[in-house]
Amino acid sequence: MNVAVLGGGIMGGGIAQISACAGHGVWVLDVTASQLDRTRATIEGSLARLARKETLTLAECQAALSRLRFTTELTDAVQKADTVVEAVPEDLSLKQEIVAEVADEAPAHCLLATNTSQLSITAIGGTLGEDAQRLVGMHFFNPPVIMRLVELIAGLETTAETLERAEAFAHSLGKETVVCLKDVPGFLTTRCSVILRLECMRMLEEGLASAEDIDKALRLGFNHPMGPLELGDLVGLDTFLDSADALAEVHGDRFRAPAVARNLVAAGRFGRKTLRGVYEYDDDGRRLDPSGDSST
Ligand SMILES: NC(=O)c1ccc[n+]([C@@H]2O[C@H](COP(=O)([O-])OP(=O)(O)OC[C@H]3O[C@@H](n4cnc5c(N)ncnc54)[C@H](O)[C@@H]3O)[C@@H](O)[C@H]2O)c1
Repeated sequence: MNVAVLGGGIMGGGIAQISACAGHGVWVLDVTASQLDRTRATIEGSLARLARKETLTLAECQAALSRLRFTTELTDAVQKADTVVEAVPEDLSLKQEIVAEVADEAPAHCLLATNTSQLSITAIGGTLGEDAQRLVGMHFFNPPVIMRLVELIAGLETTAETLERAEAFAHSLGKETVVCLKDVPGFLTTRCSVILRLECMRMLEEGLASAEDIDKALRLGFNHPMGPLELGDLVGLDTFLDSADALAEVHGDRFRAPAVARNLVAAGRFGRKTLRGVYEYDDDGRRLDPSGDSST
């Protein structure tokens, strides 16, 4: 199968890598050659790690790399594509534009998938006319190389055949799927992860426990690999707040962010990327414990 991945960032790079490992021919599109160089280097580094762990052989890594091509021209990427996955930034008008361009340039049978975390699939395909029938939400998780789930979302016009094709593509990548049958912002998983982090922030604001203990409770009590607060620092609290605000518009007050979240963002404390969020970090991004020592 020919796959095109639009956007070679955190998610697009990973989706391209697992598609190439699954034997698909893959084009990766991004806006600059320098970003594509970074995407290629990230994929090479990730494949090298998988080879060191003996998850893949060197020959399999080489074969995957040989299936990847990189371009800044949309036509090159999609003109022979059977499946396109868009993973450009979470901006409705950008996604609408790029999906409309792909519908014009790609073959008429091509599956159109969007990796949006929470935007309406129907709105992304709002200008597509009949082509909206082959648009589907394929929500991969970070990092796509490791996380086992792909959440499929049907837009209002998405056909059963399109959903089946998306499911088959996800299975070809070795992923499990769940289907969100209605196109409601936040789908199944983003709603859950946002509400959990909001509740942890409310507990922090109420002074119920330290951030460390709230995260530890979720890690050790529920087997979460990371606590919701530390994960929020990793994702970026600015991005998280945008996400909560957008969900509050649709789902109401239960998604209203508490003052602690707004204040952190207003102070420019976005998390790891600014070295301060709920926690503080040293210049290498390692967390400082309250006594000032580097810990994780
Ligand atoms: N990061 C996550 O944890 C995560 C998880 C699930 C879903 N998502 C979703 O995946 C999508 C991408 O997120 P990301 O974290 O990979 O973002 P990112 O910023 O890391 O990557 C986006 C890439 O798209 C490129 N781009 C921008 N405009 C483009 C255009 N017109 N054509 C081609 N490329 C373009 C950018 O240069 C960048 O490399 C978003 O919709 C996001 O909500 C993100």
